[in-house]
Amino acid sequence: MHCRICETPIEPFISFGNMPIANGFLTPDAFAAEYFFELATGFCSTCGMVQLIDQPAREQMFNEQYHFFSGTSTLMARHFQEFAATVQSGHLQGPDPFVVEIGSNDGIMLQHFANAGIRHLGVEPSANVAAVAKAKGVNTVCSFFDDALAREIVAEYGQADAFIAANVMCHIPYFHSIIAGIKTLLKPSGVVMFEDPYLGDVIERTSYDQIYDEHVFLFSLKSISHAFEQHGFELVDIAPQETHGGSMRYILAYKGTRPVSDRLVRQRAKEETLGLHRAETFDLFRSNCERSRDALRAVLDRCSRDGKRVVGYGATSKSTTVINYCGITPDHLAFISDTTPIKQGKFSPGAHIPVRPYAEFAQQYPDYALLFAWNHSREIMAKEGSFLAAGGKWIVYVPEVKIMQGSSEASQ
Ligand code: SAH
Ligand code: TMP
Ligand code: ZN
Repeated sequence: MHCRICETPIEPFISFGNMPIANGFLTPDAFAAEYFFELATGFCSTCGMVQLIDQPAREQMFNEQYHFFSGTSTLMARHFQEFAATVQSGHLQGPDPFVVEIGSNDGIMLQHFANAGIRHLGVEPSANVAAVAKAKGVNTVCSFFDDALAREIVAEYGQADAFIAANVMCHIPYFHSIIAGIKTLLKPSGVVMFEDPYLGDVIERTSYDQIYDEHVFLFSLKSISHAFEQHGFELVDIAPQETHGGSMRYILAYKGTRPVSDRLVRQRAKEETLGLHRAETFDLFRSNCERSRDALRAVLDRCSRDGKRVVGYGATSKSTTVINYCGITPDHLAFISDTTPIKQGKFSPGAHIPVRPYAEFAQQYPDYALLFAWNHSREIMAKEGSFLAAGGKWIVYVPEVKIMQGSSEASQ
């Protein structure tokens, strides 16, 4: 296996074993034919890119049955409103600007450009989520972005002032074609802004559940700079985000067109201090993952032995890695509560734990709730005070396995 960016042989550092499609929620008739692959990750000692060894074909993950709708989190809706405002106020000064977003999903970000009458285009291959965006008046093409599509977009709309993306650049293995497409698409004065889960946070928080089929890459400043420099771009600024459990926003432009921020220089130095591109860091990460897995299994096994009722909270894509790596089964969890209609009534990938509507959690609180949607914990804790007040306890596992009850916390 060679690095998808620079062709150096990859150094594998962890395998999570056999994994199903993370968002492949399914009905019992599909159990027998469920697709599995080995989820394993390596890093490139030359360019620093952390990447999956194997990734399933894109159509297997992104299709007309895509189960993730961005609009399910109100805090994310606010986050993308702010992202859109930053682009609009800081980067669209010229007349009749044009914005392209890839992975635009249900239009959670582009709707703000649409409402402001700004020319925009979303590129979204998953037809069911793209349909929701279109219904909101968000101009959307239902395709996978790459250089060929960029040429078609330029022919139809002209070049773009801003290329934006969230939680999708790290999904795309043919990364050089994406950057070539950005170059085709972007005006000489244009800006590129995208954000994804950050390698530094994954390492610091042992949030190994950021590793699943869709996330073929875990980016750092080093790996992003390296990949884009080959195409004449320069990383000029960054903005750390708390979203999705620790993300990084990257701001890039054609080389030499914008000043490089001090913040970027400082974060580069921090990556060196954290050892983000050293083999020992990944060895330590692996042992932290194993410790986290064993601790979580011990808590859940004890709950089962004690006859406690435990429910999962949020059937996140990330939870597929946790459930299958830790060996969590329907014997541990009565069900997983989720607010997304398309997931309800189905079963979780691999372990086949039932996914039920949120009402079933709220109507009969369990003894323990396993917080799979930990990246939304601020939003969830704010609305679930009565679960704790009723004596319910949270089981969390990032940054470490812990039980949270009432006003106190008990470490495991
Ligand atoms: N930006 C949204 C959605 C992220 S989910 C958010 O942050 O909430 C990732 C989305 O990217 C999915 O809707 C998926 O269909 C889409 N996607 C995957 N590969 C893509 C590609 N090559 N080009 C454009 N979109 C892609
Ligand atoms: P995400 O972590 O990929 O954003 O997915 C979050 C999932 O959690 C999504 O399926 C919706 C679900 N969810 C709830 O069930 N309740 C909530 O309060 C929130 C914020 C999310
Ligand atoms: Zn490389």
